[in-house]
Amino acid sequence: MQHIKQYVEQNKQRLLDELFDLLRLASVSADPKYKPEVLKTADYVAAKLRDAGADNVEICQTAGYPIVYGEKIIDASKPTVLVYGHYDVQPPDPLELWKTPPFEPTVRDGKIYARGACDDKGQFYMHVKAFELMMQTGTLPCNIKFMIEGEEEVGSSNLSIFVKANKEKLKADVVLISDTSMISMEHPSLETGLRGLSYLEVEVTGPNRDLHSGVYGGAVANPITILAQMIATLHDENNHITIPGFYNNVVPLSEAERNALNSAPYNEAEYKKDLDVAELWGEKGYSTFERTGTRPTLELNGIWGGYIGEGAKTVLPSKANAKISMRLVPNQTSDAITKLFTDHFLSIAPPYVKVKVTPHHGGEPAVTPTDSVAYRAAQKAIAESFGKEPIPTRGGGSIPIVALFEAELGLKTVLMGFGLDSDALHSPNEKYDIYNYYKGIETIPLFHKYFAELSN
Ligand code: BES
Ligand code: MN
Ligand code: MN
Repeated sequence: MQHIKQYVEQNKQRLLDELFDLLRLASVSADPKYKPEVLKTADYVAAKLRDAGADNVEICQTAGYPIVYGEKIIDASKPTVLVYGHYDVQPPDPLELWKTPPFEPTVRDGKIYARGACDDKGQFYMHVKAFELMMQTGTLPCNIKFMIEGEEEVGSSNLSIFVKANKEKLKADVVLISDTSMISMEHPSLETGLRGLSYLEVEVTGPNRDLHSGVYGGAVANPITILAQMIATLHDENNHITIPGFYNNVVPLSEAERNALNSAPYNEAEYKKDLDVAELWGEKGYSTFERTGTRPTLELNGIWGGYIGEGAKTVLPSKANAKISMRLVPNQTSDAITKLFTDHFLSIAPPYVKVKVTPHHGGEPAVTPTDSVAYRAAQKAIAESFGKEPIPTRGGGSIPIVALFEAELGLKTVLMGFGLDSDALHSPNEKYDIYNYYKGIETIPLFHKYFAELSN
């Protein structure tokens, strides 16, 4: 541990400066206007992997953005850790809500504010720097492979193809990912599951053109009203989802599992205060941790239609639209849920409108084992660097590639994230604590050490 602390201390400023250079690159995968910046980011990641001591560093082309690969094989008889991360980020919008520009990383109160600071640049870069540390101090105890992709935030479809085509190259004993949250720095935790996702868009069409709302209003159904009514029926009075069959395959948690989850520290007053809401909302009969980590949900992500410009325009619009996502838990599958939603949504459409449902990307849920060598290594690493045993939690977010690693490569994952739910991922003013960044760089070498030791 001493050599680790010392290395971080001696390289403090540089470790931060390099992350800042990475954060300055606007690698937004969703919007083609950022393409040159996304490609530059892949080059930067490759160069940094090479500098850190990785061999066979490659920028692997795909039909979309490239995957950066690099490895250090010290001894074929030693275990191999496959580190996964993503260098792409979510769009920074709405820009006007950022206190400082999203791609000009700024430190306030010990925290780095920038798009991607936590999700996932700040977190995957800890692995590059921890690798450098192990190389520089001659302490790399196992083989390591890096696979950093550029399309996680848009569904990783090209990574799926890459994984299927490169099984030999990606051979490993475990996948290690830092792209999730901890409860807090005082209560370090390890996520042991991720939800799946089914994402789709709906369009409700009324009259064949926008109409004068005085001339036609009252005689023709307004698609915005109809869409709002349809959406409002998707939850019942207990905030249960009403789609027939939706819960059919959901595996209920045992009492013991529920108790374990609910024994994690949780301060409802603080939770509400952080979000400035007077009351929480959710499925009746479940706690907040159960609702976000173990129960499926249905969310409206966006809704639009009619006139939303300056001032007033009297119009009865032709169309109304919404983007809807459902978070899935074991054993729901994305395709089956997408079909259930589609059939149901079409079936509740009243005759005044036409309804179209268009599926977007999906992803399967995953649970990670808590009795594996790799999980124990993560527990030991965190216990040593935080001075406290990590608490197992279930994450509400999705990293669809985790289920695919298991299906295609037979690999289990350890989710050793150092972010916080309050880091404003995907929101304006995303942040990452400098303390967490260094803490991650210090903890990761311990994971490799214990993983190598316990694998013997
Ligand atoms: N890193 C997040 C997922 C995450 C965040 C997991 C916090 C657990 C805790 C990831 O980058 C992400 O945002 N995933 C998307 C899904 C993807 C298909 C767009 C998500 O969860 O919405
Ligand atoms: Mn992420
Ligand atoms: Mn994300």
